[in-house]
Amino acid sequence: MVGPVMNEPDFNETYNKAKEIKQFEDTKSGVKGLVDSGVTKIPKFFVHPKESLPSPTPNAVTPLELPSIDFSGAESAGERRREVVEEIRKAASTWGFFRMVNHGVPISAMDAMLEATRRFHEQATEDKKGLYSGDGRLKVRFTSNAPTRESEVGCWRDILTCVFQDDCLDPQVLPSVCRKEAQEYVKCMIKLRETMAELISEALGLNNDYLSSIECMKSEALACLYYPFCPEPNLTMGNAKHSDTTFLTVLLQDHNIGGLQILHQNQWVDVPPIHGTLIANVGDLMQIISNDKFKSVEHRVLAQPIGPRLSVACFFHPSTKAISKPFGPIKELLSEKNPPLYRDFLVHEYVAYYKLNYGLIASALPHYRL
Ligand code: OGA
Ligand code: NI
Repeated sequence: MVGPVMNEPDFNETYNKAKEIKQFEDTKSGVKGLVDSGVTKIPKFFVHPKESLPSPTPNAVTPLELPSIDFSGAESAGERRREVVEEIRKAASTWGFFRMVNHGVPISAMDAMLEATRRFHEQATEDKKGLYSGDGRLKVRFTSNAPTRESEVGCWRDILTCVFQDDCLDPQVLPSVCRKEAQEYVKCMIKLRETMAELISEALGLNNDYLSSIECMKSEALACLYYPFCPEPNLTMGNAKHSDTTFLTVLLQDHNIGGLQILHQNQWVDVPPIHGTLIANVGDLMQIISNDKFKSVEHRVLAQPIGPRLSVACFFHPSTKAISKPFGPIKELLSEKNPPLYRDFLVHEYVAYYKLNYGLIASALPHYRL
């Protein structure tokens, strides 16, 4: 092997990260556009440091399996509902994640939503680039996951975000290729949220209308995600390790390609897709109001050697009214033995703090911890 050549220019010195990112962003065609252009090497701003990439030799431990909860029979009071509430309590306080079976969302609406996500991302760039924007205030926007600051690294995915603030979004601003499906899917998510809010309230030992009364899950942000095939999947991530800032997230995965992993007992556990099921996870804000009873757990998505992989994440956020009211550990859960672990805060301040530090902090929880 040839040793390093003296006087060869140091790539790090000549590499202009900001310029390369701008060139990429200016195409407005996302990561899919890069792949379509035939790249065989990924741009350097997508390359993650070795320590944050999955180890090439996976642990040889017995694979763990995410708890799976069957929701049939949980609609009405009775023995089965009590069991489901107990299963939610256990899963939310240990794994922070669970699989939902018989959740009431029609499989046809789920499949249609995934197909609509594919249709959006597989349009010609010309037809979708009008929505390409870094402006986080827009209710509907198309972005990739390129870094927005020096210290960050990009992730190998494209995102269509649709925000239904207070359960509403003007249908005219939704892309026509997925309008009907997104509206229908959000309707199903709202119905599911009503059930989940009751069951989670009960799992916290509260009246079943508690979470609904504080309006903490009354807005939905749909992230319609497209993880294209990656020519160098061992150098980047589909989505780097993170926890969700939400109260609750409900994730729909396509049924062909896996890649989602969650951190459990210091081990990355695969969450393979199973057709017809949904994955629910506790977000940071739920961890805070539950005073750490429920855990917001780190997860990630591997870059895909085959693809594309599709998923749709529904993030539940507070209503407009609730965003400017103080949140903190639920008073009914506190006692002398169980003192508050977090200070009270306004959700919009929390979100602003997280955005300001995006890419620099794993979560905003420590900032609010007493
Ligand atoms: C997310 C996320 C997982 C997935 O967008 O926050 O964790 O499978 N997505 O796409
Ligand atoms: Ni997430």
